[in-house]
Amino acid sequence: MALISQKPDSPFTPGTPVPPELFVGRKQQLEEAAGYMERAASGRLENLFLVGERGIGKSSFAAYLRRVAEIEKNMLGVHVFLGAVDTLEEMTQRIFEGLLREVRTESSLFEKVRSLFGKHIEKLDLFGVSVRFAPPKDKLEALVNEFPHAVYNFLDRVKSERRGLFIALDDINGLAREKAFADWYKSFVDYTAVHFERFPVFVVLVGLPDRWEQMTSLQASLARVFRMVRIERLADEEVSEFFQRAFGSVQVEVEPKALDVLVRFSSGYPILMQEIGDAVYAVDSDGKVDIEDANLGILTAANRVGYRYLEPRVYRTVRSPRYRSILRKLGQHGIRRNFTRREVESWLNEEEKRVFSNFLRRMRELGVIERDLEGGPGAYRFVNEIYPVYIWMEAMRWARKPNSRKTLEGD
Ligand SMILES: Nc1ncnc2c1ncn2[C@@H]1O[C@H](COP(=O)(O)OP(=O)(O)OP(=O)(O)O)[C@@H](O)[C@H]1O
Ligand SMILES: [Mg+2]
Repeated sequence: MALISQKPDSPFTPGTPVPPELFVGRKQQLEEAAGYMERAASGRLENLFLVGERGIGKSSFAAYLRRVAEIEKNMLGVHVFLGAVDTLEEMTQRIFEGLLREVRTESSLFEKVRSLFGKHIEKLDLFGVSVRFAPPKDKLEALVNEFPHAVYNFLDRVKSERRGLFIALDDINGLAREKAFADWYKSFVDYTAVHFERFPVFVVLVGLPDRWEQMTSLQASLARVFRMVRIERLADEEVSEFFQRAFGSVQVEVEPKALDVLVRFSSGYPILMQEIGDAVYAVDSDGKVDIEDANLGILTAANRVGYRYLEPRVYRTVRSPRYRSILRKLGQHGIRRNFTRREVESWLNEEEKRVFSNFLRRMRELGVIERDLEGGPGAYRFVNEIYPVYIWMEAMRWARKPNSRKTLEGD
């Protein structure tokens, strides 16, 4: 026990953006974004939409970009999360509050910008390290309307210290639904183009692919305004590099065979590599990850991932008991990422067979399986290697349940 408690904290960060030291991959996207950033820093507004599926690494990419903006381009950067925000007022308040917080420790700079905001700024605690910007409603509305000018004035105050601003608006889920946001953004872009010769600002919007579709259908011109960078799965070499760096940072060695397993089950998904790394790190007790540690960690990670993603999205929302029994039959046949329609059908009873086509379609819609193009017609695979592990475990757990409970649950 004593040994375990002396372990350094896990370097893995499932669920939060990765710290820049452990950020891997995305070379080409970073290069592309850095090009836009340079143009922004040189004086023209650039707008980037960062798009990618859930958990693929958008926020981590945005956080890394911000760091590049600050360190390499000497820009002032904020990264605001707007998940629960659906009004322009609140968004604007958060952006300026974020900017003020960024300069709070540079007192001369802080004093320069503070006067722009009058008495609506509070330094919160004893040491003045926290800043709150809380203007009344009417002032905030005015700030939304005069956003381009407000940003321009801010830039003017900081221009001898910073080349420009980097503003990441993350999780714009609520806002992307609002026509008001789409229209506001369009006029922000047009207004700055017409009124300011220099406007060194890089705005990065972060969202899921359907948010992009929503936003551009509300305001078609936005499709031309934004550059788009797509965040996709990592290559196996990048995942491998990640594990070596992360484990290396806490002096843990990973045996090559174990590393192969960790990489394989991560399937290129950053969220999976973090879950797996975290679970394996907890299992290891001798500073050396061997194949047993890897396998055990993967079971734990699969359990967590399944519980978080498959239970709510699949097991709990899919009402049909047939679907669940099909999933269990898949599970009973072991941990397999690939399967064909034909072979699974041969395991099913008549009722299950009848709904099997619908089952396949639904699982595809839910992002659980995809067509396996290399496998030919009728070939499918789970989107990652971890889902079938969970499905297998769930089937085993279910098989062990006493019969009475099985009937009570109706399946
Ligand atoms: N390039 C990377 N290198 C290492 N780890 C990463 C990288 N990108 C993402 N991660 C890790 O993957 C997980 C998901 O990343 P992140 O939160 O950035 O994704 P996201 O696309 O913003 O997710 P969401 O759609 O939920 O907002 C986090 O645990 C993060 O630490
Ligand atoms: Mg995110």
